[in-house]
Parts: sequence; structure tokens; C-alpha cells
Amino acid sequence: MKTAVFSDIHANPAAFRRAINSARRLGCKNIICCGDIVGYGYDPNECIEICKRNDIECIKGNHDAALVGELSLDWFNHYAAQGIVSNRPLVTEENKKWLANLPYKIEKQFGDTKVAFSHGTYAIPEQFGYIGSIYSAIVELDLIRKNGIDALFIGHTHGAELYARNTSDDRNLIHGTLPKSIRKRLAQPLNGWSEAIFNVGSVGYPRLCRYSTYAIIDDSIPRVTWRQLPFDYVGYTEKIVAMGREVPVWLQARLVFLKGGEE
Ligand SMILES: [Fe+2]
Repeated sequence: MKTAVFSDIHANPAAFRRAINSARRLGCKNIICCGDIVGYGYDPNECIEICKRNDIECIKGNHDAALVGELSLDWFNHYAAQGIVSNRPLVTEENKKWLANLPYKIEKQFGDTKVAFSHGTYAIPEQFGYIGSIYSAIVELDLIRKNGIDALFIGHTHGAELYARNTSDDRNLIHGTLPKSIRKRLAQPLNGWSEAIFNVGSVGYPRLCRYSTYAIIDDSIPRVTWRQLPFDYVGYTEKIVAMGREVPVWLQARLVFLKGGEE
């Protein structure tokens, strides 16, 4: 059976629909979202409705928590805070309750492999810590092992990455980022490690690369495959501008590159 793992939709229904269509076409029966359904983008309510219509199992991200007042805006950078403030009035009261009721993590068994899903980290997910270096990854790998978890799926950094160890000796730590080092080896074993962290990247706000990304768990092999989809930077920017909002600097830079013919 195939399960798609998404994260960081960020109120971008166009990218969300494209990723769902891709996952369904590739035979995914289930979809799990590692959080941040809202924030940054232009239509948070529609993204929540898409989750409900497609029976997507969702986890609470830091932007979801902030939208419902569970996390202070002081936590966020200027553009992120602006996104949350602009999203709040667009979400119905019923959907705010739906966001507030999301869990911080879920756990599932895929064959012999125990898998956890959270937004940023496993042990204290409500703190929304970042795994953005091999040092933070080693701490987290130790923690998931201590808790009997073989593989952790996350988002939060918006960059697709793999941190994995063959043994508990940290000298064997493997680190790959997409699209660079993972690019030629998009498929990785789910259970070929003593413990592993799979960051699926971002569907709706791919700040660190030019693709919308997600991952597919195929538990019949068992294997994890990252997928890359084109991201409509121009259409996305137009919608943000139409809301009277500033265009984030990373997006301005991306648009300059695109004009220069990077594609
Ligand atoms: Fe995010």
C-alpha cells in the first residue's frame, strides 16, 4: 500500500491539489500531512476543506497553532506573522476548531517498521523545534530510538532531507538534501536504517528549492520516494499581492532568477 506524506501546505490550494492529483495518480490510498496547513498563502479555509474532503490525516504545525491563538506571533518572522494575521479572518469558526483539535504527532506501523509523524520534532512536538543540522538530527535520532520509533517523518524546515544511521555510531550518519545529493537517489529504503528522519519538504511554500515536494511510503517494498512538482511562483505571487501583502524576499529573489531564465 502507498501512503503520501505532505507537509507545509501553507494556504496554497493550487499546489495542494496538484500534489493530491500526483499522489492519487501514483496509487496512494492514504495521505498524511505533517502540519502547517495555513499561513503564508492566500486561501487557508479551502486548504482545510481539501483536507476534510480527501480524508487527509493532519498534524498541527506552528502556523496552525498560531492561527488559533495557541502560539504567540512573537515566535514568527515578519512575513510569517503577516501571513497568519491575513489568514485568520479567512478561516471559519468551525475550521478554527478543526485546527485546534489536530494532534501534534501520530504513530503508525508499516510492516516491521514503527513510524511517527510530527511537524518539527518527535519528543516535544508542541515546541516546534527545527531539525536543520546533523547535530540536531543526532539528538532526535537518539530520542526516537529511545521511544521505539524506527522512522520519523517531518516538515517544518521546508527542505526535503534525509538523516539516517546504519548503527547507533554517529560516524555512520548519512545526510542528504533534495534536490542536491538525494536527487539522483530519490528512492530510499524505509527500514534499511537503525533509525531515520525523512523530511518531506513543502507542498505549498518551497522556500529552499524551486520544487513543491512530498514523499511516498510504499510499504510493500518498503521504500520512501520523494516527488518533485513544478511550483507556480508567478501565480502565487500575484495572489499574495492581490491581498495587499508584501512579497517575501525569498520569493522576490526566486522571481528574479526565473526572469533570468533559470528554468
Ligand atoms: Fe511551515
